[in-house]
Amino acid sequence: MVEAKDSKVSTGSSYLELNRPKRVSMILSCKEKVGILADVLGFFSKEGLTLAHIESRPSALEKDQFDFFVDVMQSANMENMDSIRAGLENICDTVTIIGNQEAADTPWFPQKISDLDRFATHTLEFGKELKADHPGFSDMEYRKRRCAITENATSYKHGEKIPRVEYTDVEIETWGKVYKRLTDLYPTHACKEHVKALPLLEQYCGYGENNIPQLQDISDFLHSQTGFRLRPVAGLLSSRDFLNGLAFRVFHSTQYVRHHSQPFYTPEPDVAHELLGHVPLFADPDFAAFSQEIGLMSLGVSDADIETLATCYWFTIEFGLCREGDEIRAYGAGLLSSFGELEYCLTDKPKLLDFDPKTTSLTKYPVTEFQPTYFVAESFEDAKKKLKEFGNSLSRSFAVRYNPYTECVEVINSQKQLKTLAYSIHAEMDTLLSAMSRMAEESK
Ligand SMILES: [Fe+2]
Repeated sequence: MVEAKDSKVSTGSSYLELNRPKRVSMILSCKEKVGILADVLGFFSKEGLTLAHIESRPSALEKDQFDFFVDVMQSANMENMDSIRAGLENICDTVTIIGNQEAADTPWFPQKISDLDRFATHTLEFGKELKADHPGFSDMEYRKRRCAITENATSYKHGEKIPRVEYTDVEIETWGKVYKRLTDLYPTHACKEHVKALPLLEQYCGYGENNIPQLQDISDFLHSQTGFRLRPVAGLLSSRDFLNGLAFRVFHSTQYVRHHSQPFYTPEPDVAHELLGHVPLFADPDFAAFSQEIGLMSLGVSDADIETLATCYWFTIEFGLCREGDEIRAYGAGLLSSFGELEYCLTDKPKLLDFDPKTTSLTKYPVTEFQPTYFVAESFEDAKKKLKEFGNSLSRSFAVRYNPYTECVEVINSQKQLKTLAYSIHAEMDTLLSAMSRMAEESK
């Protein structure tokens, strides 16, 4: 689940405007010390350079180190890049200039799957720290246990095996209560894709009332089905970071269990929400493609557009309904992991509207109570089509494409890249035509 509103630190003007001047992106890594941000800002000011965007994140690579992601407006003052780099190196430990002639107008965003390591530890809340109204707030043993489990996420790097958790009897009992209650409802309330995936997850990943499945087993299974992977996360990420992960078919999943005193309530995503609500749908190719589409649309857009996309995410991947013949079924993880709202959403109490990103993205929603309005998708394929059309209205002047062979996002903003894309589509068309002609031959 993403947070309701993006609260990432962001200063300066919005990320991208149409026809804007070019920018150069850089990452400045610095040891954590008082006044470091002022030193960095002072340098840019002294050099007469205008900042378009700056944000800081704890370094995923070095403890006690911060990375500043900076976009600088390109100007005559940037002609001597070597001197700018040398000046910054006097303040920072490492300076990485990302911008180049081709991509100078592209703000930083993860472009290869391992870039997700850079922000995976940048959680906004939950994880180790709990609010006073959390059911486990005054249970020191529970808090200690969460700290131990979130350590897996904090130290995780792309490509590693996700550490297995030996869940306690209390945790398994809590999971079992949720599992039993929800699986009783799925045959009549969950969408067909969810109903189809659950037995496979039981067979291949150890899903069951008496066993909490392991993230690595699920990740391997999903990858074999749709290319989706799980990555452990210590708490709530910003909307931007969370959505950016989906662009790479990576879903950030918590690994801890809600507090045993209230098995049917959790104020945050926990392993029951992720594994029962989200995971089964990621085994469906159309849903996986829809989810990745939101992720790709989130790369390098303005904070306002991130909020727009996070709202679409909320009303689809978290709280979406879909049409199945004459019936309505649930596919949103927030519904499929809450038996109370799963029952409620299919009654005549809430308002149901057709999914239309233009309307959906402007709809306000409560985060602590049942939704008064749900949006109904005709199909995941249809929802993806509508979302893609809607994406053209977002303030981004470049297109992106995910390359599954290199696991990188390619920015399509040059003739050369257009040509490469055209060749790739041509090769796919050849395969399609060849398959069609063979099938036609066989049916003669
Ligand atoms: Fe969620």
